[in-house]
Amino acid sequence: MVCKLRKIRVIASLLSICVAAVFLTSSWNYLRLQKSSYCGCNQCLTDGDPCIRERIISAPKPFLSIKNKITEDIFNWWKRLQGEKRNFTYYNEAVDTVFKVIPPFPDFAEPSPDRCKICAVVGNSANLKGSRYGPLIDFHDIVIRINRGRTKGYEADVGTKTTYHIMYPESATYLENTTRLIMFPFKSSDFLWLMKKLNPGENGAVNSKLIANKNLVTILSPEFMKYVHEAWLGNKGYYPSTGFLTFALSLFLCDEVTVFGFGADSDGNWSHYFERLGNKNLKTGAHPGGYEYDVMVQLDKKKKIRFFKGW
Ligand SMILES: *[C@@H]1O[C@H](CO)[C@@H](O)[C@H](O)[C@H]1NC(C)=O
Ligand SMILES: *[C@@H]1O[C@H](CO)[C@@H](O)[C@H](O)[C@H]1NC(C)=O
Ligand SMILES: *[C@@H]1O[C@H](CO)[C@@H](O)[C@H](O)[C@H]1NC(C)=O
Repeated sequence: MVCKLRKIRVIASLLSICVAAVFLTSSWNYLRLQKSSYCGCNQCLTDGDPCIRERIISAPKPFLSIKNKITEDIFNWWKRLQGEKRNFTYYNEAVDTVFKVIPPFPDFAEPSPDRCKICAVVGNSANLKGSRYGPLIDFHDIVIRINRGRTKGYEADVGTKTTYHIMYPESATYLENTTRLIMFPFKSSDFLWLMKKLNPGENGAVNSKLIANKNLVTILSPEFMKYVHEAWLGNKGYYPSTGFLTFALSLFLCDEVTVFGFGADSDGNWSHYFERLGNKNLKTGAHPGGYEYDVMVQLDKKKKIRFFKGW
């Protein structure tokens, strides 16, 4: 009897230890999730600073889809970027045409507590020359390159991997069929250009080749461009540069971001690592280049991103 009682007591105390352990674990998990509930990395972009979190969660969907079109107000903002002459009807028809060729919905996962996607955004600045960042860049899960940014011949400084490649018609290069093309449209004809480049040989052209794998093509929404101009640049400059739009987009596609190859080189020249630009005063044209650079440097200071300045 005594024994039994003792046994019961032992069981009871074991039970209470169990209950306590369960309670402690769940509150620990709760506290941990409170601290970092937005992604599975040690430090997620949306943790901490409530302003940055607010700015990120208030964003529109970054990509167009057959269900995510833009309003005429957004169209009117967008059409001034490069002097679009066509109307909203024409724009919508051009968009519909391209969605006959590319997937109707972009294939990107939402952030989640069990995901930790680490990305390298690689700009084309000459400050990459001699940097030997190649292995470090390739170490990232996802490597995002821009415009005519290339790897062949520059592997030691820029790496070999390209997961996403950002471009528009005037900056286009042929991509590997495993690289995702993210097109930034600046006028209605860009959609028609894309459609043609994904349907070579249609008009009897024999030796034209596909610019990218059709199943891996996604188009940035003009609404996202407007959001970046307002929310990240306070409407400074005429509109954001492709480099800055790419950087802002990476904050949505990734949980941790490292930036390479932005800004001038150590002599203050704005040039590309793969070519010398003739005009040294080129600077950044219609884009608020200095301001964009400062935004990234500030985010690095706040430990939100990592920013490698190069050489
Ligand atoms: C839009 O432009 C097309 C020509 O590209 C024209 O036929 C059409 O009437 C215009 N629509 C409106 C609403 O202005
Ligand atoms: C990608 O290209 C390789 C060879 O270059 C080919 O074997 C493969 O079928 C292509 N994949 C797709 C999805 O087009
Ligand atoms: C940077 O610009 C200066 C002055 O125009 C020029 O002398 C120098 O060669 C340039 N450096 C590079 C790496 O292009």
